[in-house]
This record gives sequence, structure tokens and C-alpha cells, in this order.
Amino acid sequence: MNELNKIEEFIIEQLEKADSEYLIEKIRVYALGKKGKITQIMRSLSGMSIDERKSFGKEINNLKSKISELINAKRLLIQSVDLEKKLKSESLDLTLPINLESNGNIHPVSQVFQEVSLIFSDMGFDIAEGPDIEDDWHNFTALNIPPEHPARQMHDTFYIKKENDFDSETAEVLRTHTSPVQVRTMLQTKPPINIIVPGRTYRSDSDQTHTPMFHQVEGLVIDEKSHMGHLKGCLVEFVKKFFNIEKINYRFRPSYFPFTEPSAEMDIGCVREGNKIELGGDKNWLEILGCGMVNPVVLENCGVDSRKYQGFAFGMGIDRIAMLKYGMSDLRSFFDSDLRWLKHFGFSQFDFPPDSRRRSF
Ligand code: PHE
Repeated sequence: MNELNKIEEFIIEQLEKADSEYLIEKIRVYALGKKGKITQIMRSLSGMSIDERKSFGKEINNLKSKISELINAKRLLIQSVDLEKKLKSESLDLTLPINLESNGNIHPVSQVFQEVSLIFSDMGFDIAEGPDIEDDWHNFTALNIPPEHPARQMHDTFYIKKENDFDSETAEVLRTHTSPVQVRTMLQTKPPINIIVPGRTYRSDSDQTHTPMFHQVEGLVIDEKSHMGHLKGCLVEFVKKFFNIEKINYRFRPSYFPFTEPSAEMDIGCVREGNKIELGGDKNWLEILGCGMVNPVVLENCGVDSRKYQGFAFGMGIDRIAMLKYGMSDLRSFFDSDLRWLKHFGFSQFDFPPDSRRRSF
């Protein structure tokens, strides 16, 4: 066996044994490095005759490329084995830690907002939002409530900023309902429109079922064909899903809102005894929302062609339906920040429904 065969055999043997990139690199330096075995033999070619150089040179070149191929192959093998090992031994926990001992929980209003948003999202509604501080025009005038309109009195409005400028269109108010987001949406989006607007609303009012800050969900559907039947179907479907009851007592009463024509209010049957309120029966009725077909005047105020488009709207009291669903009798306690109340009526993070579709206007 000539010297080249011996070197080849030795290197191959070492490569087979090698089980780390470090050893592979050592073998590479031993064979092909500047002072490596094969490199040295190549250098010795210069002292040979031309014929010797021709035959031996070919042999040594073949060996050189064979060895470097073997080294590369073994290196790749070791790298993939290493990676495999690493993947098996290392793991990354992407979940956020939850402190189960924590005292914090979800307020019923947040919970109900999320439940409501999810039900309407499933029906194809988008979630829209608008500012809490509104100007007079969006909150009233555009909604067909001109400055001298008696409906303004019903709203017990909190006016801010300009004290003696109540009826100017630039006066600012804390929005008395979520309906101004109807206006904002119609001004910015072309029909068809399908939105709900969960948000805070404000009126100067306080008793068992009223607080100065409360919550509403507005709904708006504008297209070419929607009618009162769709409005009713949509709301009844919502109420059944929300309360999780197939048979629910409800009634639609004729009503009046300047921005809808015709208008109605929806009540839910309940039993109210002393400090308790329970869903069901028809002994008492709790008004939960106002609704109707969008008044063509409002469509025109918002740049929507009322000869082509029509639709319905509703505005629902979130706190009211939360009280009914979870048996809370006094709305004022929602906002007392009494930890005992919050602990009793609050929800665990695990009960929070997943997210829905949301955009801002
Ligand atoms: N904005 C009305 C209210 O707050 C409710 C409503 C909304 C009625 C949409 C009709 C249509 O009382």
C-alpha cells in the first residue's frame, strides 16, 4: 500500500469516528490545512520529473477532492444531528404567564361588550368607534335634532367648553348616545354599511337604572333593501344568543326618535322583586333598546342618497342587559369600585370571549 492509500485510509477512519464539528475541523487541518499531509505531498510535486508529476499529480488531486467532499458531507451530517438535538432539548414557551392568584378580574361591562361584539361579528357586523367628546352637530343636528327640538331636553346633556353657546353647531358635548357614530360612519363609508358601535355615553341622570356615565351599543345597517322585518329578526336573534335562551319574552313598542321613522323600543320580560331582577315572565318589562328605520333626513344629512338607500338602526343599553343577564339590581354599583362587588360579579380572564373585528372612525 503506497503512502497515499495509507493517508486516505487514516483520514477516512478518523472521519468516521468524528462526532463533532470541532473534530471535523481538526481532520481538515490535518489533511488539507497549510501544513496538512495532502498539502505537503502536493508541494513535493515540484521536485519530481514531468512524467512522475503527471501521474502522481492526478492521483493526489483526486485524493484531495475526495477528502474535501467527505469532510463537507460529514460536517453537514453533524450539523443536522446537532440541530435535531438542539430542537429536542430546547423549547420556547410562547404563552404569557397568568397569575391565578391574582385578585383582578374582568368588569361585567367589559365582558358584556365583548359578548355583544362577538354575536354581532358573527352576523357580519364590523365594530366601529367614535369620540366620547362630540360636537353638537354630530350628536344632535345631523341626527335631525335641530337646536330648538324638544328631544334635546330628554337627553340631559353635559355641555362642555363654551358656556353660553349651547345651540351653536361647534359647541362640544359629552355624547349622549352612540348615534353620532352613525353619522361619522355614513360620512366616511359608502353603503352597504353594517356596523355596531360599543361605547361610553353620558347624561346627567342618576337612579337605580341610570348613571351619569353608561354604555350603549349602536347598530347601523344601510343598503338598498333592509326593512323593519330585518331589524326585528336581527334583534330577536341577538337577544336569544345573548341570554342563551330560545324562548324569551320581548315586545316592540311604537316610539319616537327624530333620527328614525318609524321608531320602536324593545322591552324584555323580567321579574323584579325588591332588590332582585330576573329574566323571564311578563310581569315587568325592562326597556333595553331604541330602534327604527333610519330617517331619510339623516341619510341626506350624511350624504347618502335616500332614494337609493335605506336601513335600520338601534341603540342598546349595555348596562341594562348586563343587569338582566347577571342579576345585578342597581346600576350605580357598577361604578362604585367596591372590590367585594367586583369580586362577586367580575369574570375570570378565562371567561373572556375571543376578539372580534374592530375599526375606528
Ligand atoms: N340613540 C337612542 C337613545 O340613546 C337610541 C336609538 C338608536 C334609537 C338608534 C333609534 C336608533 O335613546
